[in-house]
Amino acid sequence: MTTNKRATFGSKLGVILATVGCAVGLGNIWRFPYMVGANGGAAFILIYLVCILLLGIPVMITEFFIGRHSHRNAAGAFKVMAPGTKWSFIGYNGVLGAFLILGFYSVVSGWTLEYILQACTGSLAGKSAAEFTAEFETFSSGIFRPILWTALFIGMTHVIIMSGVKKGIERASKVMMPVLFLILCALCVRSVTLPDASEGLRFLLQPDFSKIRSSVVLSAMGQAFFSLSIGMGCLITYSSYFGKHTNLQTTAIQVTLLDTLVAVLAGIMIFPAVFSFGIAPTAGPELVFITLPNVFEQMPLGNLWSLVFFVLLALAALTSTISLHEVATAYMHEEWQMTRSRAAVYVSLGVLFFGSISSLSMGVLSEYTIGGLNFFDLLDYITAKIMLPLGGMLICLFVGQRVDKKILKAELTNEGTIPFYFFNTYAFFMKYLWPIAIGIIFLNELGLLRWLTGE
Ligand code: TRP
Repeated sequence: MTTNKRATFGSKLGVILATVGCAVGLGNIWRFPYMVGANGGAAFILIYLVCILLLGIPVMITEFFIGRHSHRNAAGAFKVMAPGTKWSFIGYNGVLGAFLILGFYSVVSGWTLEYILQACTGSLAGKSAAEFTAEFETFSSGIFRPILWTALFIGMTHVIIMSGVKKGIERASKVMMPVLFLILCALCVRSVTLPDASEGLRFLLQPDFSKIRSSVVLSAMGQAFFSLSIGMGCLITYSSYFGKHTNLQTTAIQVTLLDTLVAVLAGIMIFPAVFSFGIAPTAGPELVFITLPNVFEQMPLGNLWSLVFFVLLALAALTSTISLHEVATAYMHEEWQMTRSRAAVYVSLGVLFFGSISSLSMGVLSEYTIGGLNFFDLLDYITAKIMLPLGGMLICLFVGQRVDKKILKAELTNEGTIPFYFFNTYAFFMKYLWPIAIGIIFLNELGLLRWLTGE
């Protein structure tokens, strides 16, 4: 299938699963529930779904267009399509974003390994909700243990990145994704049948519109970008490995649907349990880690369930860390004429550095804050709420303003062989509506709108 010297994914299913593997990860199962909890429940979910539908799918299609059309990495793509211009800033934003996201993502991924170990040794059994919370706090604020797990996780990512696109990424995703899905369904059933589960379901389903503020809208948009892996060229890099027969439109829609389904299932798995065990929904990053052990505790063979769950969560995280690592590795390899293995080593070391600081910021470095955020939260804030929306806005602008509509249409319809029904609407939105909409939400939340209008 390979027509040029770059690798391509081997099959249609491989394309979908690898891209779903990139999109589905801690963003769905860890970050989505904690954002829902922190932003008041159902109203947040509603705005999130609107963002997914109106912004997520079109931006994903656009990233696919850029990647497959240019066959290059996130920054190189813009050098090919708009030589000598500043548009490659989008790619640099993405490469930097990959380091920063991995800086906190690898820490949370490391936590999943700790829980795998605890499930194996049986030490998750027989504890109360308060004990689970206290133990998580002691563990995550420690020095060596969380950093070691983070390092191990980066090491695993590194090994897969070195074994190449097809063997590593594609094969891993094919098996893991379907199994993860089944486990989630089983845990949802357990959660909604716990005592007082209905309160959690109400939190998820009954929107309280008085809770909607611009910060909630920006959080929902940031979460949509984060969960779909859009706005930083990750999907540009992945789609540069797509073959010429891949249907970019249906792939984007399928990936988005699966990603959203997993997030919603994660919500149904977590919140009934949160209310049933009296855990605060606003607990933050630890929400999933303090809630789920309680759920397993209530199940026959609880240890086995927790083991299987955390193994799958770690694997889902792994397919996402691989995608982030690949963005930076492909960029350094192709643009800096470095061997792939050397590029990968630099990326892993850089991520280990950021990861260690953000892990320590949960404990010994917790006093060092910027705007009230420790380093971990700061990385999360800068990437999800600034870099991804900014990247998304620029991607829309680039395609709307700079790309010839005929080329865009030819690529998205595989040279006219498949239809694109709303092409003109899509092109119009890319050109005007989305850049303006994202820009306003963004300026408003950062307080810049008030500053600009002098109020
Ligand atoms: N989407 C992944 C998740 O939900 C994380 C991720 C992978 C990502 N690649 C990305 C986020 C690129 C933003 C940009 O876990």
